[in-house]
Amino acid sequence: MTAPMDHKKALEHLKTYSSKDGLSVQELMDSNIRGGLTYNDFLVLPGLVDFPSSAVSLQTKLTKKISLNTPFVSSPMDTVTEAEMAISMALLGGIGFIHHNCTPKEQASMVKKVKMYENGFINSPIVISPTTTVGEVKAMKRKFGFSGLPVTDNGKCPGKLLGLVTSRDIQFLEDDSLAVSEVMTKNPVTGVKGITLAEGNEILKQTKKGKLLIVDENNNLVSMLSRADLMKNQNYPLASKSATTKQLLCGASIGTMEADKERLTALVEAGLDVVVVDSSQGNSVFQLNMIKWIKETYPGFEIVAGNVVTREQAANLIAAGADGLRIGMGTGSICITQEVMACGRPQGTAVYNVCQFANEFGVPCMADGGVQNIGHIIKALALGASTVMMGGMLAGTTESPGEYFYKDGKRLKAYRGMGSVDAVQKTGSTGNASSSRYFSENDHVFVAQGVSGAVVDKGSINKFIPYLYNGLQHSCQDIGHTSLTLLKENVKNGEVRFEFRTASAQLEGGVNNLHSYEKRLHN
Ligand code: IMP
Repeated sequence: MTAPMDHKKALEHLKTYSSKDGLSVQELMDSNIRGGLTYNDFLVLPGLVDFPSSAVSLQTKLTKKISLNTPFVSSPMDTVTEAEMAISMALLGGIGFIHHNCTPKEQASMVKKVKMYENGFINSPIVISPTTTVGEVKAMKRKFGFSGLPVTDNGKCPGKLLGLVTSRDIQFLEDDSLAVSEVMTKNPVTGVKGITLAEGNEILKQTKKGKLLIVDENNNLVSMLSRADLMKNQNYPLASKSATTKQLLCGASIGTMEADKERLTALVEAGLDVVVVDSSQGNSVFQLNMIKWIKETYPGFEIVAGNVVTREQAANLIAAGADGLRIGMGTGSICITQEVMACGRPQGTAVYNVCQFANEFGVPCMADGGVQNIGHIIKALALGASTVMMGGMLAGTTESPGEYFYKDGKRLKAYRGMGSVDAVQKTGSTGNASSSRYFSENDHVFVAQGVSGAVVDKGSINKFIPYLYNGLQHSCQDIGHTSLTLLKENVKNGEVRFEFRTASAQLEGGVNNLHSYEKRLHN
């Protein structure tokens, strides 16, 4: 046996190897060797940790012109993204795409709600008219439980502010038929539209009132601040906002049918920042024509096109003018496309190939579907994606549409594919989003490409997104990178190394040999 080398020569000796340990991304993804890979099929090798995880920047690009502070995007699905999700996603540094399985009017009003949102301000307060009776106010109080109702001339917001009715105004009144105009406080404390949250809160503190009514220059009520919310108003330093209007960024989806042009017009008028042209197979003349029309009609408006999984599909959409691409076919958690259509691609390979091509043209890519944990997110980003779109991960949160229900002792919310029979049969939708996503609008028998199911209650994304954010920062720290930009650069030049994971390696990487355990993801 030869004597071991002097330990001080370890670094020098490292240089005698022709390449770094592990595989470059090109070697990992060489499809001639082992076929398509999913996120679970590989790992990223660790780097040097010489910085705190809090120093990691997750800044990234959604499209050519739109940057975000986090790579998190919520999917345009009717059990994932409506106004509440889109508002919270934007506040937390990501963006939500509002689904289009509804009328254009409904979708545009959701977009408007996001654009009008001001942190801490109640933009759609419940308002009463001067003729509302004391009895009606008492009933509303029992139903909704609030203590102050603004009174406007038309009973709406906006509307000329006439007064405020609080619990104290009606508490000891026995005549329920009295009109509120006779009992309301006629000169409530007001703030002028445009004041900051801090200024509004200061007025509330000074005046010791419960409600601050915000009015415009013509004394029209536009929003309201509530003392009860004062402590709850959080700061959102990562919020995704328009540089010019300071409003939250909002995305939405449309289909590729003629009627979708009118839909987009309504969305643009509502203030939309970016559109996803929603199709399970993006490489179609319908989508190419739609992109061209959008570019001609709304020059400078940002378009995310897709879905694609190959360079050839991507090339067509980039040539037509796409500002971002959405990657994934058949990998969503509610999806049966690969089974039914025999079409699709393992997501790791799809993300790598499309991103490698699109990034040459400065077109950022979104890895869409199949994300089940933080590890999957960092892998998608390491393979070249700039953002990740999530459906199942965000379904079942407080901010997702739908009511909770109980089954087998668990609190659940519905989550369904947009190609499921349930989504397609949704009543009241015009130009059904689901059928057009799957080119099925003329089918006599609908061929489903998705399932409907339920997911467990995940709590609020106010906790879940920060969990993902911290987790990603820690992951970048393990890989030895202080930003996603640097990580991508070093993946490209072969500095960041990967390892293929055999089936048994995947088992080894999971929890094993325990009698029982509880998996809690965060406190
Ligand atoms: P998840 O994050 O794995 O749940 O996947 C969500 C993604 O699945 C969406 O963003 C869509 O791209 C895709 N998707 C949505 N509905 C369907 C469907 O019915 N069939 C196939 N894919 C779907």
